Amino acid sequence: MSKNTINNHLYIGGVSAFDLVRTYHTPLYVMDESKIRSQCQMFKKHFVSDHIETETIYASKAFLSLAMCELVDSEGLSLDVVSGGELYTAHQAGFPMHKIYFHGNNKSLEELKLAIEYQVGTIVVDHRHELLTLINLIPKNQKINVMLRVNPGIEAHTHEYIRTTHHDSKFGLSIYDESTLDLIKEINQYDSLIFKGFHSHIGSQIFEEQSFIEHAQTVLTYISDVYLKTGIVVEEMNLGGGFGAKYTAEDKPFELKFFLPTLLEHIGETSKKLRIKVPKVFIEPGRSIVAEAGYTLYTVGGTKKTTSGKQYVFIDGSMADHMRTALYQAKYDAVIANKLNDEANTSYTVAGKACESGDIIIKDVKLPKPEANDILAVKTTGAYHYSMSSNYNRLTRPAVVFVKDGKSKLIVQRETYQDLIRNDLKLED
Ligand code: LLP
Repeated sequence: MSKNTINNHLYIGGVSAFDLVRTYHTPLYVMDESKIRSQCQMFKKHFVSDHIETETIYASKAFLSLAMCELVDSEGLSLDVVSGGELYTAHQAGFPMHKIYFHGNNKSLEELKLAIEYQVGTIVVDHRHELLTLINLIPKNQKINVMLRVNPGIEAHTHEYIRTTHHDSKFGLSIYDESTLDLIKEINQYDSLIFKGFHSHIGSQIFEEQSFIEHAQTVLTYISDVYLKTGIVVEEMNLGGGFGAKYTAEDKPFELKFFLPTLLEHIGETSKKLRIKVPKVFIEPGRSIVAEAGYTLYTVGGTKKTTSGKQYVFIDGSMADHMRTALYQAKYDAVIANKLNDEANTSYTVAGKACESGDIIIKDVKLPKPEANDILAVKTTGAYHYSMSSNYNRLTRPAVVFVKDGKSKLIVQRETYQDLIRNDLKLED
Protein backbone atom coordinates (compact mmCIF):
# COMPACT_ATOMS: atom_id res chain seq x y z
CA MET A 1 0.00 0.00 0.00
CA SER A 2 1.42 3.40 -0.96
CA LYS A 3 2.07 5.97 1.75
CA ASN A 4 -0.69 8.09 0.20
CA THR A 5 -3.29 5.35 0.63
CA ILE A 6 -4.76 4.11 3.87
CA ASN A 7 -8.07 2.23 3.91
CA ASN A 8 -8.82 3.15 0.32
CA HIS A 9 -8.48 6.86 1.17
CA LEU A 10 -6.16 9.51 -0.22
CA TYR A 11 -3.64 11.04 2.18
CA ILE A 12 -1.75 14.22 1.32
CA GLY A 13 1.25 15.11 3.45
CA GLY A 14 0.10 12.48 5.91
CA VAL A 15 -3.38 14.00 6.32
CA SER A 16 -6.47 12.23 5.01
CA ALA A 17 -8.45 14.09 2.37
CA PHE A 18 -11.54 13.16 4.36
CA ASP A 19 -10.26 14.99 7.48
CA LEU A 20 -9.25 18.00 5.41
CA VAL A 21 -12.73 18.24 3.93
CA ARG A 22 -14.37 17.83 7.32
CA THR A 23 -12.25 20.63 8.78
CA TYR A 24 -12.03 23.09 5.90
CA HIS A 25 -14.87 22.12 3.51
CA THR A 26 -14.69 22.18 -0.28
CA PRO A 27 -13.57 23.33 -2.78
CA LEU A 28 -10.17 23.32 -1.10
CA TYR A 29 -6.64 23.86 -2.36
CA VAL A 30 -4.22 21.57 -0.55
CA MET A 31 -0.46 22.07 -0.85
CA ASP A 32 2.05 19.48 0.31
CA GLU A 33 4.56 21.73 2.10
CA SER A 34 7.36 19.15 2.15
CA LYS A 35 7.12 18.73 -1.62
CA ILE A 36 7.42 22.48 -2.17
CA ARG A 37 10.37 22.64 0.20
CA SER A 38 12.13 19.71 -1.42
CA GLN A 39 11.77 21.32 -4.85
CA CYS A 40 13.28 24.55 -3.49
CA GLN A 41 16.12 22.51 -1.99
CA MET A 42 16.62 20.64 -5.25
CA PHE A 43 17.22 23.96 -7.07
CA LYS A 44 19.55 25.16 -4.29
CA LYS A 45 21.52 21.93 -4.49
CA HIS A 46 21.73 21.33 -8.23
CA PHE A 47 21.70 24.76 -9.77
CA VAL A 48 25.28 25.33 -8.68
CA SER A 49 28.70 25.23 -10.24
CA ASP A 50 32.23 25.76 -8.92
CA HIS A 51 32.88 28.32 -11.62
CA ILE A 52 29.59 30.13 -12.04
CA GLU A 53 27.68 32.26 -9.59
CA THR A 54 24.00 31.29 -9.57
CA GLU A 55 20.71 32.31 -7.97
CA THR A 56 17.25 30.73 -8.01
CA ILE A 57 14.29 33.08 -7.95
CA TYR A 58 10.79 31.74 -7.28
CA ALA A 59 8.26 33.10 -9.81
CA SER A 60 5.53 34.13 -7.42
CA LYS A 61 2.82 34.36 -10.11
CA ALA A 62 2.51 30.58 -9.85
CA PHE A 63 1.29 30.78 -6.26
CA LEU A 64 1.70 33.54 -3.70
CA SER A 65 0.47 34.23 -0.21
CA LEU A 66 2.09 35.51 2.97
CA ALA A 67 2.93 31.96 4.10
CA MET A 68 4.43 31.11 0.71
CA CYS A 69 6.70 34.18 0.95
CA GLU A 70 7.85 32.94 4.36
CA LEU A 71 8.50 29.48 2.97
CA VAL A 72 10.46 30.80 -0.03
CA ASP A 73 12.56 33.00 2.23
CA SER A 74 13.25 30.20 4.68
CA GLU A 75 14.49 28.03 1.78
CA GLY A 76 16.84 30.80 0.68
CA LEU A 77 15.30 31.56 -2.72
CA SER A 78 14.73 35.04 -4.14
CA LEU A 79 11.37 36.25 -5.45
CA ASP A 80 10.07 37.40 -8.84
CA VAL A 81 7.09 39.77 -8.67
CA VAL A 82 5.17 41.29 -11.57
CA SER A 83 2.75 43.64 -9.92
CA GLY A 84 2.29 46.04 -7.05
CA GLY A 85 0.05 43.41 -5.44
CA GLU A 86 2.70 40.70 -5.48
CA LEU A 87 5.27 43.22 -4.27
CA TYR A 88 3.02 44.40 -1.46
CA THR A 89 2.34 40.80 -0.38
CA ALA A 90 6.07 40.07 -0.20
CA HIS A 91 6.66 43.28 1.75
CA GLN A 92 3.89 42.48 4.22
CA ALA A 93 5.36 39.01 4.70
CA GLY A 94 8.70 40.56 5.63
CA PHE A 95 10.44 39.13 2.57
CA PRO A 96 13.90 40.73 2.15
CA MET A 97 13.38 43.43 -0.45
CA HIS A 98 16.91 43.19 -1.84
CA LYS A 99 16.04 39.66 -3.04
CA ILE A 100 13.09 40.88 -5.13
CA TYR A 101 13.14 41.07 -8.93
CA PHE A 102 10.38 43.26 -10.29
CA HIS A 103 9.14 42.27 -13.77
CA GLY A 104 6.30 43.26 -16.07
CA ASN A 105 5.77 44.84 -19.47
CA ASN A 106 3.71 47.79 -18.25
CA LYS A 107 4.52 48.68 -14.67
CA SER A 108 2.43 51.61 -13.55
CA LEU A 109 3.81 54.79 -12.06
CA GLU A 110 2.48 53.73 -8.65
CA GLU A 111 4.11 50.32 -8.94
CA LEU A 112 7.47 51.78 -9.87
CA LYS A 113 7.20 54.28 -7.00
CA LEU A 114 6.42 51.46 -4.59
CA ALA A 115 9.38 49.43 -5.85
CA ILE A 116 11.70 52.40 -5.31
CA GLU A 117 10.24 53.13 -1.88
CA TYR A 118 10.67 49.49 -0.82
CA GLN A 119 14.17 49.46 -2.34
CA VAL A 120 13.65 46.26 -4.28
CA GLY A 121 16.81 44.51 -5.41
CA THR A 122 16.39 44.76 -9.18
CA ILE A 123 13.89 46.25 -11.61
CA VAL A 124 13.65 44.44 -14.92
CA VAL A 125 13.00 47.15 -17.51
CA ASP A 126 10.83 46.10 -20.44
CA HIS A 127 11.22 48.98 -22.93
CA ARG A 128 12.40 52.58 -23.34
CA HIS A 129 9.24 54.33 -22.19
CA GLU A 130 9.45 52.43 -18.92
CA LEU A 131 13.11 53.29 -18.57
CA LEU A 132 12.40 57.00 -18.91
CA THR A 133 9.53 56.83 -16.44
CA LEU A 134 11.78 55.05 -13.96
CA ILE A 135 14.64 57.54 -14.31
CA ASN A 136 12.34 60.41 -13.43
CA LEU A 137 11.21 58.69 -10.25
CA ILE A 138 14.58 57.82 -8.73
CA PRO A 139 15.44 60.19 -5.87
CA LYS A 140 18.85 61.89 -5.85
CA ASN A 141 21.60 59.71 -4.39
CA GLN A 142 19.62 56.51 -4.86
CA LYS A 143 20.84 53.92 -7.33
CA ILE A 144 18.69 51.19 -8.82
CA ASN A 145 19.87 47.87 -10.20
CA VAL A 146 18.25 47.22 -13.55
CA MET A 147 18.15 44.36 -15.99
CA LEU A 148 16.76 44.66 -19.50
CA ARG A 149 14.12 42.22 -20.70
CA VAL A 150 15.27 40.93 -24.06
CA ASN A 151 13.61 38.66 -26.54
CA PRO A 152 15.96 36.05 -28.00
CA GLY A 153 13.29 34.72 -30.40
CA ILE A 154 13.42 31.09 -29.25
CA GLU A 155 10.40 29.00 -30.25
CA ALA A 156 9.57 26.60 -27.45
CA HIS A 157 6.80 24.07 -28.04
CA THR A 158 4.07 25.07 -25.68
CA HIS A 159 0.63 26.66 -25.77
CA GLU A 160 0.53 29.96 -27.69
CA TYR A 161 -0.75 31.95 -24.71
CA ILE A 162 2.19 30.92 -22.53
CA ARG A 163 4.91 31.19 -25.15
CA THR A 164 6.68 34.45 -24.67
CA THR A 165 9.64 34.83 -27.00
CA HIS A 166 8.39 34.48 -30.53
CA HIS A 167 9.35 37.62 -32.46
CA ASP A 168 6.07 39.48 -31.92
CA SER A 169 5.97 38.91 -28.19
CA LYS A 170 4.71 41.76 -26.03
CA PHE A 171 7.63 41.15 -23.66
CA GLY A 172 11.00 42.82 -23.94
CA LEU A 173 13.09 43.99 -26.86
CA SER A 174 14.38 41.83 -29.65
CA ILE A 175 18.08 41.08 -29.64
CA TYR A 176 17.89 41.31 -33.43
CA ASP A 177 16.81 44.93 -33.30
CA GLU A 178 19.63 47.49 -33.49
CA SER A 179 17.73 49.95 -31.29
CA THR A 180 18.05 47.51 -28.38
CA LEU A 181 21.78 48.14 -28.45
CA ASP A 182 21.15 51.89 -28.32
CA LEU A 183 18.99 51.42 -25.25
CA ILE A 184 21.69 49.38 -23.52
CA LYS A 185 24.16 52.22 -24.15
CA GLU A 186 21.60 54.70 -22.86
CA ILE A 187 21.00 52.73 -19.66
CA ASN A 188 24.73 52.76 -19.03
CA GLN A 189 24.86 56.53 -19.17
CA TYR A 190 22.58 57.14 -16.19
CA ASP A 191 24.31 57.56 -12.84
CA SER A 192 21.16 56.48 -11.02
CA LEU A 193 21.10 53.09 -12.74
CA ILE A 194 23.36 50.09 -12.31
CA PHE A 195 22.98 47.96 -15.43
CA LYS A 196 23.22 44.32 -14.39
CA GLY A 197 22.36 42.41 -17.53
CA PHE A 198 19.65 40.64 -19.47
CA HIS A 199 16.49 38.89 -18.53
CA SER A 200 14.58 36.59 -20.88
CA HIS A 201 12.02 33.82 -20.58
CA ILE A 202 11.08 31.47 -23.39
CA GLY A 203 7.72 30.21 -22.19
CA SER A 204 6.17 27.84 -19.73
CA GLN A 205 5.50 24.10 -19.40
CA ILE A 206 8.43 23.23 -21.67
CA PHE A 207 9.68 19.67 -21.97
CA GLU A 208 12.64 20.06 -24.33
CA GLU A 209 16.01 20.51 -22.66
CA GLN A 210 17.38 21.74 -25.97
CA SER A 211 15.18 24.85 -25.90
CA PHE A 212 16.81 25.98 -22.66
CA ILE A 213 20.32 25.24 -23.92
CA GLU A 214 19.66 27.12 -27.15
CA HIS A 215 18.20 29.96 -25.15
CA ALA A 216 21.30 30.28 -22.96
CA GLN A 217 23.62 30.08 -25.97
CA THR A 218 21.67 32.76 -27.83
CA VAL A 219 21.79 35.16 -24.89
CA LEU A 220 25.51 34.51 -24.35
CA THR A 221 26.18 35.22 -28.01
CA TYR A 222 24.28 38.47 -27.62
CA ILE A 223 26.32 39.33 -24.52
CA SER A 224 29.44 38.83 -26.61
CA ASP A 225 28.05 40.99 -29.46
CA VAL A 226 27.17 43.74 -27.02
CA TYR A 227 30.70 43.68 -25.65
CA LEU A 228 32.28 43.75 -29.11
CA LYS A 229 30.06 46.59 -30.31
CA THR A 230 29.92 48.75 -27.19
CA GLY A 231 32.58 47.56 -24.74
CA ILE A 232 29.85 47.02 -22.14
CA VAL A 233 30.46 43.95 -19.97
CA VAL A 234 27.19 42.21 -19.10
CA GLU A 235 27.55 40.71 -15.66
CA GLU A 236 24.25 38.87 -15.23
CA MET A 237 21.90 36.69 -17.26
CA ASN A 238 18.46 35.67 -16.03
CA LEU A 239 17.01 32.84 -18.11
CA GLY A 240 13.51 32.91 -16.61
CA GLY A 241 11.47 29.82 -15.77
CA GLY A 242 9.44 27.39 -17.83
CA PHE A 243 10.38 23.88 -16.65
CA GLY A 244 7.46 21.54 -17.26
CA ALA A 245 5.42 19.71 -14.61
CA LYS A 246 3.66 16.36 -14.80
CA TYR A 247 -0.12 16.79 -15.03
CA THR A 248 -0.99 13.46 -16.63
CA ALA A 249 0.88 10.31 -17.61
CA GLU A 250 1.47 11.88 -21.07
CA ASP A 251 3.71 14.58 -19.59
CA LYS A 252 7.37 13.68 -19.40
CA PRO A 253 9.31 16.42 -17.62
CA PHE A 254 13.06 15.95 -17.65
CA GLU A 255 14.98 15.44 -14.43
CA LEU A 256 16.01 18.89 -13.29
CA LYS A 257 18.68 17.63 -10.93
CA PHE A 258 20.57 16.23 -13.92
CA PHE A 259 19.70 18.99 -16.34
CA LEU A 260 20.60 22.02 -14.20
CA PRO A 261 24.32 21.16 -13.86
CA THR A 262 24.40 20.32 -17.59
CA LEU A 263 22.92 23.72 -18.42
CA LEU A 264 25.58 25.41 -16.32
CA GLU A 265 28.30 23.36 -17.98
CA HIS A 266 27.08 24.51 -21.40
CA ILE A 267 27.04 28.09 -20.18
CA GLY A 268 30.64 27.76 -18.95
CA GLU A 269 31.83 26.21 -22.21
CA THR A 270 29.97 28.67 -24.44
CA SER A 271 31.33 31.64 -22.49
CA LYS A 272 34.83 30.26 -22.91
CA LYS A 273 34.35 29.80 -26.64
CA LEU A 274 33.00 33.32 -26.97
CA ARG A 275 35.82 34.63 -24.76
CA ILE A 276 33.48 36.47 -22.47
CA LYS A 277 33.45 36.61 -18.71
CA VAL A 278 30.92 33.97 -17.62
CA PRO A 279 27.95 35.91 -16.22
CA LYS A 280 26.11 35.21 -13.01
CA VAL A 281 23.17 33.00 -14.01
CA PHE A 282 19.65 33.21 -12.59
CA ILE A 283 16.66 30.98 -13.17
CA GLU A 284 13.08 31.74 -12.19
CA PRO A 285 11.02 28.59 -11.77
CA GLY A 286 7.40 28.89 -10.70
CA ARG A 287 5.40 25.88 -11.86
CA SER A 288 8.16 23.34 -11.24
CA ILE A 289 8.28 24.36 -7.57
CA VAL A 290 4.59 24.25 -6.70
CA ALA A 291 2.49 22.51 -9.38
CA GLU A 292 2.86 18.89 -8.30
CA ALA A 293 2.54 19.75 -4.61
CA GLY A 294 -1.04 20.91 -5.13
CA TYR A 295 -4.41 19.12 -5.11
CA THR A 296 -7.87 20.58 -5.31
CA LEU A 297 -10.53 18.75 -3.33
CA TYR A 298 -14.16 19.00 -4.44
CA THR A 299 -17.38 17.43 -3.26
CA VAL A 300 -19.26 15.49 -5.92
CA GLY A 301 -22.86 16.57 -6.47
CA GLY A 302 -24.93 15.00 -9.21
CA THR A 303 -23.99 12.85 -12.15
CA LYS A 304 -25.69 12.90 -15.53
CA LYS A 305 -25.63 10.85 -18.72
CA THR A 306 -26.44 12.71 -21.95
CA THR A 307 -28.45 11.16 -24.79
CA SER A 308 -25.22 10.45 -26.65
CA GLY A 309 -23.86 8.63 -23.62
CA LYS A 310 -21.48 11.25 -22.26
CA GLN A 311 -21.12 10.87 -18.49
CA TYR A 312 -20.89 14.04 -16.45
CA VAL A 313 -19.83 14.30 -12.86
CA PHE A 314 -20.60 17.65 -11.26
CA ILE A 315 -18.47 19.17 -8.54
CA ASP A 316 -18.89 22.12 -6.17
CA GLY A 317 -16.09 24.13 -7.80
CA SER A 318 -15.73 25.59 -11.28
CA MET A 319 -13.54 27.37 -13.81
CA ALA A 320 -13.41 30.17 -11.25
CA ASP A 321 -11.03 28.06 -9.13
CA HIS A 322 -9.72 25.92 -12.00
CA MET A 323 -9.14 28.11 -15.03
CA ARG A 324 -6.49 26.23 -16.98
CA THR A 325 -8.70 23.67 -18.72
CA ALA A 326 -10.98 26.32 -20.20
CA LEU A 327 -8.12 28.68 -21.04
CA TYR A 328 -5.42 26.35 -22.35
CA GLN A 329 -7.26 23.05 -22.88
CA ALA A 330 -4.91 21.78 -20.17
CA LYS A 331 -5.23 18.13 -19.15
CA TYR A 332 -5.54 16.86 -15.60
CA ASP A 333 -5.79 13.64 -13.68
CA ALA A 334 -8.05 13.02 -10.70
CA VAL A 335 -9.05 10.35 -8.22
CA ILE A 336 -12.00 9.82 -5.95
CA ALA A 337 -10.26 10.35 -2.64
CA ASN A 338 -12.51 7.97 -0.72
CA LYS A 339 -12.41 5.22 -3.39
CA LEU A 340 -8.74 5.25 -4.16
CA ASN A 341 -8.32 1.58 -4.95
CA ASP A 342 -11.67 0.97 -6.58
CA GLU A 343 -11.53 0.06 -10.22
CA ALA A 344 -11.59 3.13 -12.46
CA ASN A 345 -12.71 1.96 -15.86
CA THR A 346 -15.40 4.41 -16.94
CA SER A 347 -14.60 7.79 -18.49
CA TYR A 348 -16.21 10.88 -17.03
CA THR A 349 -16.24 14.56 -17.86
CA VAL A 350 -15.83 16.62 -14.71
CA ALA A 351 -17.86 19.82 -14.96
CA GLY A 352 -18.10 22.75 -12.59
CA LYS A 353 -21.05 24.78 -11.41
CA ALA A 354 -20.37 28.01 -13.32
CA CYS A 355 -22.89 29.27 -15.82
CA GLU A 356 -20.86 28.56 -18.92
CA SER A 357 -20.62 25.49 -21.18
CA GLY A 358 -16.84 25.80 -21.21
CA ASP A 359 -16.75 25.24 -17.46
CA ILE A 360 -15.05 21.88 -17.73
CA ILE A 361 -12.42 20.81 -15.21
CA ILE A 362 -11.37 17.55 -16.89
CA LYS A 363 -12.63 16.47 -20.30
CA ASP A 364 -11.97 12.82 -19.88
CA VAL A 365 -10.86 10.97 -16.77
CA LYS A 366 -11.32 7.37 -15.68
CA LEU A 367 -12.93 7.13 -12.26
CA PRO A 368 -14.73 4.58 -10.12
CA LYS A 369 -18.48 5.23 -10.14
CA PRO A 370 -18.86 8.69 -8.55
CA GLU A 371 -21.69 9.27 -6.10
CA ALA A 372 -22.98 12.35 -4.32
CA ASN A 373 -20.70 13.44 -1.44
CA ASP A 374 -17.66 11.58 -2.76
CA ILE A 375 -14.50 13.68 -2.67
CA LEU A 376 -12.86 14.30 -6.01
CA ALA A 377 -9.14 15.17 -5.81
CA VAL A 378 -7.74 16.88 -8.90
CA LYS A 379 -3.97 16.53 -9.03
CA THR A 380 -1.18 18.96 -9.94
CA THR A 381 -3.09 22.13 -9.13
CA GLY A 382 -0.41 23.92 -7.10
CA ALA A 383 0.61 26.35 -9.86
CA TYR A 384 -1.58 28.94 -11.56
CA HIS A 385 -4.76 27.79 -9.84
CA TYR A 386 -5.23 29.83 -6.68
CA SER A 387 -3.29 32.65 -8.38
CA MET A 388 -5.60 32.59 -11.42
CA SER A 389 -8.85 32.11 -9.55
CA SER A 390 -11.71 34.57 -9.89
CA ASN A 391 -15.11 35.40 -8.46
CA TYR A 392 -16.99 34.62 -11.68
CA ASN A 393 -20.67 34.03 -10.89
CA ARG A 394 -19.88 35.52 -7.47
CA LEU A 395 -18.37 32.23 -6.43
CA THR A 396 -16.10 32.52 -3.40
CA ARG A 397 -12.43 31.59 -3.67
CA PRO A 398 -11.50 28.39 -1.85
CA ALA A 399 -9.26 28.24 1.21
CA VAL A 400 -5.64 27.11 0.89
CA VAL A 401 -4.13 24.64 3.32
CA PHE A 402 -0.54 23.49 3.76
CA VAL A 403 -0.13 19.88 4.89
CA LYS A 404 3.03 18.40 6.34
CA ASP A 405 3.93 15.44 8.58
CA GLY A 406 0.32 14.56 9.26
CA LYS A 407 -0.70 18.12 10.19
CA SER A 408 -2.58 20.80 8.30
CA LYS A 409 -2.27 24.58 8.50
CA LEU A 410 -4.74 27.02 7.00
CA ILE A 411 -2.75 29.62 5.04
CA VAL A 412 -5.49 31.39 3.10
CA GLN A 413 -9.00 31.63 4.48
CA ARG A 414 -12.01 30.76 2.37
CA GLU A 415 -13.72 33.85 1.00
CA THR A 416 -17.11 34.66 2.42
CA TYR A 417 -20.18 36.27 0.90
CA GLN A 418 -19.24 39.41 2.88
CA ASP A 419 -15.89 39.43 1.07
CA LEU A 420 -17.77 39.48 -2.22
CA ILE A 421 -19.54 42.74 -1.46
CA ARG A 422 -16.67 44.32 0.49
CA ASN A 423 -15.91 46.83 -2.24
CA ASP A 424 -19.45 47.26 -3.58
CA LEU A 425 -21.26 50.54 -3.00
CA LYS A 426 -25.02 50.97 -3.16
CA LEU A 427 -26.55 53.65 -5.35
CA GLU A 428 -27.77 55.54 -2.30
CA ASP A 429 -24.36 55.49 -0.55
N1 LLP B 1 9.74 34.32 -15.20
C1 LLP B 1 8.98 35.04 -16.04
C2 LLP B 1 9.45 36.32 -16.53
C3 LLP B 1 7.73 34.56 -16.44
O1 LLP B 1 6.99 35.27 -17.28
C4 LLP B 1 7.27 33.32 -15.94
C5 LLP B 1 5.96 32.82 -16.31
C6 LLP B 1 8.10 32.61 -15.05
C7 LLP B 1 9.33 33.14 -14.71
C8 LLP B 1 7.69 31.30 -14.44
O2 LLP B 1 7.46 30.32 -15.39
P1 LLP B 1 7.15 28.80 -14.91
O3 LLP B 1 8.42 28.25 -14.32
O4 LLP B 1 6.06 28.86 -13.92
O5 LLP B 1 6.76 28.12 -16.16
N2 LLP B 1 -0.74 30.95 -16.52
C9 LLP B 1 0.04 30.04 -17.33
C10 LLP B 1 1.51 30.25 -17.14
C11 LLP B 1 1.96 31.64 -17.46
C12 LLP B 1 3.40 31.82 -17.18
C13 LLP B 1 3.79 33.24 -17.34
N3 LLP B 1 5.14 33.49 -17.03
C14 LLP B 1 -0.36 28.61 -17.00
O6 LLP B 1 -1.23 28.42 -16.15
O7 LLP B 1 0.14 27.68 -17.59
